[in-house]
Amino acid sequence: MEDYLVRMENIYKSFPGGVQANRGITLEVRPGEIHCLLGENGAGKTVLMSILYGLYKPDSGTIYYKGKKLDIHSTKDAIANRIGMVHQHFMLVPTLTVAENVVLGQYPAWKVINDMDKVHERIRAMSDEFGLDVDPAKIVQDLSVGEQQRVEILKALYHGADLLILDEPTAVLTPQESEHLLKFLRDLANRGLTIIFITHKLEEVMQVSDRVTVLRDGKVVGTVNTSDTNPRELARMMVGREVLMELKKAQTEPGKVIFLVRNLRVKDARGLEVVRGVSFEVREREVLGIAGVSGNGQTELALALAGLIEGEFDEMRLDGQLITKRDLQRLHRLGMAHIPEDRQKMGLILPFSVAENFVLKTYRDEPFARRGFLRFDAIRDYTRSQVSKFSIRVGDIEEEIAHLSGGNQQKVVVARELDRQPRFLLVNQPTRGIDIGATEFVRQQILAERDAGAAILLISADLEEIFALSDRILVMFEGRFMGEVPPDPALIEQVGLMMAGKTVQVSD
Ligand SMILES: Nc1ncnc2c1ncn2[C@@H]1O[C@H](COP(=O)(O)OP(=O)(O)OP(=O)(O)O)[C@@H](O)[C@H]1O
Ligand SMILES: [Mg+2]
Repeated sequence: MEDYLVRMENIYKSFPGGVQANRGITLEVRPGEIHCLLGENGAGKTVLMSILYGLYKPDSGTIYYKGKKLDIHSTKDAIANRIGMVHQHFMLVPTLTVAENVVLGQYPAWKVINDMDKVHERIRAMSDEFGLDVDPAKIVQDLSVGEQQRVEILKALYHGADLLILDEPTAVLTPQESEHLLKFLRDLANRGLTIIFITHKLEEVMQVSDRVTVLRDGKVVGTVNTSDTNPRELARMMVGREVLMELKKAQTEPGKVIFLVRNLRVKDARGLEVVRGVSFEVREREVLGIAGVSGNGQTELALALAGLIEGEFDEMRLDGQLITKRDLQRLHRLGMAHIPEDRQKMGLILPFSVAENFVLKTYRDEPFARRGFLRFDAIRDYTRSQVSKFSIRVGDIEEEIAHLSGGNQQKVVVARELDRQPRFLLVNQPTRGIDIGATEFVRQQILAERDAGAAILLISADLEEIFALSDRILVMFEGRFMGEVPPDPALIEQVGLMMAGKTVQVSD
């Protein structure tokens, strides 16, 4: 018997445009272990796992699985070999039911229709067995992100996975959901399943894994036992230098009110009122943090403020000017910038190139256009300078942005929005899915905007982030604010309770 379940040996993969995503990677995963893959944005994690799952063909290299050489040409081959994968960006079809998604692509259509009752029954049984709380009859687009992810996991288990690959599963989850998922993965490993787990969160690596392999620039830096390492060492392996993991936050005096809204009410896509009369103001040189478990109205709050969906309010002002109706151009002109939580739906146009995405909002302006003509040289120069300033990993700036790694896509949105020296900056989950080096950088940039005079509204489910950046914190629960708290680390626990809807007396 071999002492590993999978051995990927000397894997090479490059893409047109000159990106070498994997450069001679050898990865061994033992049966029944939770093996973390760690590495900066663009290090090659997703590509390596996509090769194992049959989505990409390696340029060279060999895969051994259960003691034999494995030839994989498609995801069907992977599933037939009992390999399952939950992707970084979900792959469910939103308009189909859970059950239809679970069996999608597996059976011929006539068989699926005949067997649907059985499929439902089995999903219910498995959902009970694993405690996944998944309803086979629900339509996927009505599910929360956490639920969708449980469907993806159930789908893999339904097809009998022995090896389960999860690509940044916790990036989109609330802290509670993440905690739950990690416990669940531990359970699965105890039952004998082997798990490869990608994350940027070092605490999760320390908590859940048996071993860790660190990638940098398409190569393996090393594989270590989790019990023999610590977050600092892992960070150093990833980045190749010491990472401080602490922010420099200067004292500032907030100035005049830049943004204010009174009695804002917003409905969600189903017509339910999810923001239920909130009022607040944000001043110059101030970060107002909104803490809360995702799904308590923050998404709709941000979209309504950014003018992307309708909201009702008594008064809204940006830089003294009354805002009466939804007008994106005007908000933009008055100096609003927006880093949305869903980069793929709201922040980027995926079939467009990297350069085009950089000038989505500014291509009509000097220096990118003159007398109605686009100036491609200016656009290219600008893009190159931003790409290098933010260390965005991209082969060719004319490449489709869809081909960038998840974290690098996020960096493009951040780089574009911060560059405009906004008066009012609205940021929702700015560091979701980006690596620790980039997280440090983005947070420092947000503070730099604050110090330069911007008013900043920061929405984040990451309490550590809220406390690190905010000057004041509002806690949101079920569409309302539970109260305001200063960013004193001693109050983290109380904020946690308020996030769960408990009324807490905060003595200031
Ligand atoms: N289909 C593709 N076409 C061109 N380049 C690609 C493609 N897929 C990935 N790449 C490139 O390969 C490199 C590795 O990407 P990969 O998605 O594996 O990174 P990652 O380690 O998963 O990063 P992240 O943490 O940001 O998700 C990146 O530079 C990316 O731009
Ligand atoms: Mg990835």
